[in-house]
Amino acid sequence: MPRPIEIAPSVLPVDFSKLGEEIAALEAAGVDRIQFDVMDGQFVPNLTFGPDVIASVRRHTSLPFEAHLMVLTPDLLAAEYIKAGCQRLIVHAEACTHLHRTLANIRSLGATAAVALNPATPADAVAHVLDLVDLVLIMTVNPGFGGQSYIATMEPKIREVRAMIDAAGLAESVDVEVDGGIGPNTVAGAAAAGANVLVAGSALFRDPQGLAHAVADLRARAMAAFAN
Ligand code: DX5
Repeated sequence: MPRPIEIAPSVLPVDFSKLGEEIAALEAAGVDRIQFDVMDGQFVPNLTFGPDVIASVRRHTSLPFEAHLMVLTPDLLAAEYIKAGCQRLIVHAEACTHLHRTLANIRSLGATAAVALNPATPADAVAHVLDLVDLVLIMTVNPGFGGQSYIATMEPKIREVRAMIDAAGLAESVDVEVDGGIGPNTVAGAAAAGANVLVAGSALFRDPQGLAHAVADLRARAMAAFAN
């Protein structure tokens, strides 16, 4: 049974003065989970939010929270983001000297673990940790900012990671997620390559027909491409 298509909005584009309401609106629009882009100003040239911000909006939705930790020190921060209400932590392979231990530690803290790969990082970087994750995130932009252009040359890597997961017998338990420049004109390429979880920010909020239309349209386009 292939993994379900899921839409995971990035909250980067929202009006942070009413973050709780914005998250409730995303749930009402039909998204499957909420992704928080956590940036430390060192691993990426941008700074976003700490665990207290996430904890403050936890009560506004029952959807799962995942923290995309674009940080140099995920080991030091993991427990705080789990306590804040994140069910999944996504760490970057490039930020972890001991990736296997970092992922095992996240699981020992009671969250699900996931690993992200920047555009230049080969798929092989996750070859020996697939048994520790429930998701591999393939960045389709260089991390740090929303509104960037989709890097289509990541599609062979998406295909390669999906094949590694399937070859390891994990096809029914590990998702392939993509993040960056995902919208109506790019989602089909990513889904056809094997991505089943789509992170989108700008594309959801710039749809003139509103959030619910944007979410449904992205899901429909992904499902059509994923099945083919
Ligand atoms: C990059 C961020 C963005 C964001 C989505 O570090 O992770 O990719 O989530 O941005 P859009 O969908 O606007 O490209």
